[in-house]
Amino acid sequence: MGQTVLRSRILGTGHYLPEKVLTNAELAERVDTSDAWITSRTGIKQRHIAAPEEASSDMAAKAAVRALEAAGVPASEVDLIIVGTVSPDMQLPATSVFVQQAIGARANCPSFDLAAACAGFVYGLSVADAYVRSGMASNVLVIGVELLSRIINWKDRNTCVLFGDGAGAALVGPADNPERGILSTHIYSDGAQAKSLCIPAGGTREPLTQELFDANKHLVHMVGKDVFKYAVKALASSAVEAIESNGLSGDDIDWLIPHQANIRIIDAVIARSGVPKERCYINIDSTANTSSASVPIALDQAVRAGKVKEGQNLVFCALGGGFAWGSAMVRW
Ligand code: UT7
Repeated sequence: MGQTVLRSRILGTGHYLPEKVLTNAELAERVDTSDAWITSRTGIKQRHIAAPEEASSDMAAKAAVRALEAAGVPASEVDLIIVGTVSPDMQLPATSVFVQQAIGARANCPSFDLAAACAGFVYGLSVADAYVRSGMASNVLVIGVELLSRIINWKDRNTCVLFGDGAGAALVGPADNPERGILSTHIYSDGAQAKSLCIPAGGTREPLTQELFDANKHLVHMVGKDVFKYAVKALASSAVEAIESNGLSGDDIDWLIPHQANIRIIDAVIARSGVPKERCYINIDSTANTSSASVPIALDQAVRAGKVKEGQNLVFCALGGGFAWGSAMVRW
């Protein structure tokens, strides 16, 4: 156990998007949909799709290596790996152990998966912050990774147009300046509508049978309207909570980085949080919804584009299946 520290901060970020891109027009050749419908209802124009030989841990490891390089910290110094994912390499063991091997972390480095769906990265950041501030860890790798193209029903136009593959990562460690770093995290869950977004079969509740497999119950099912309504309220309120709990207003925020699920949800969060629209980072057009990878991919893109500057106030917010949601305020 090391010394307690006042704050943790993000030391480096990285992301990985598979090379293959699937456009709305290409998708419209497979299912009964159109570029016009997808664009107007969601803001999505294309999504990245993993290669057949790629698994979640491969993408996670690539994002993690980039975050470590950005931080200037070798993999041997990582002392906890948290992988937010609902599309693991296998049901058992955790995807995190494959990441540990792939990046060359030390042999006994603790690691675990965290299943908070689209809120996986924000949840992971909250855990990492607590570990670093308590002195229990100095370098925590937080990864959000999803290979959703392998767990969605490509015949269901209600879901298949929405999702994409990718990974994002951040290394969290002690802040040398207490004015900077993770100022707050707030995480929540509400199981009352758990079935609005779920994979019904393949777990212990409904072990997979041929019949369930034929009915595609091993793939993502979503009641889009229910998720939409909940997301607007919960995402906006968690963004507002991040801002107000730090004594700030929407105008004080330099970058709002929301979960990229639907441009109409993002617009509602912008309106309710009071953050000026031009300060909201949006990439849903090119990535679609990458669930737990969405916030860290957007963050890393913004960082690498030179948009994020020291001292700026950043708000992250995300919501997904569970429902699980949360927010974080970071002073860069
Ligand atoms: O990451 C968190 C998890 N996910 C989300 O946050 C997603 C939240 N939900 C949503 O983003 C939206 O509810 C959707 C984009 C999924 C759907 O948009 P909507 O405006 O709620 O559409 P809808 O489900 O009410 O469907 C409207 C119409 C329906 O036709 P009818 O019944 O009006 O004739 C659908 O059958 O649009 C039809 N439709 C489509 N048409 C063309 C649904 N999907 C498609 C499609 N292409 N892909």
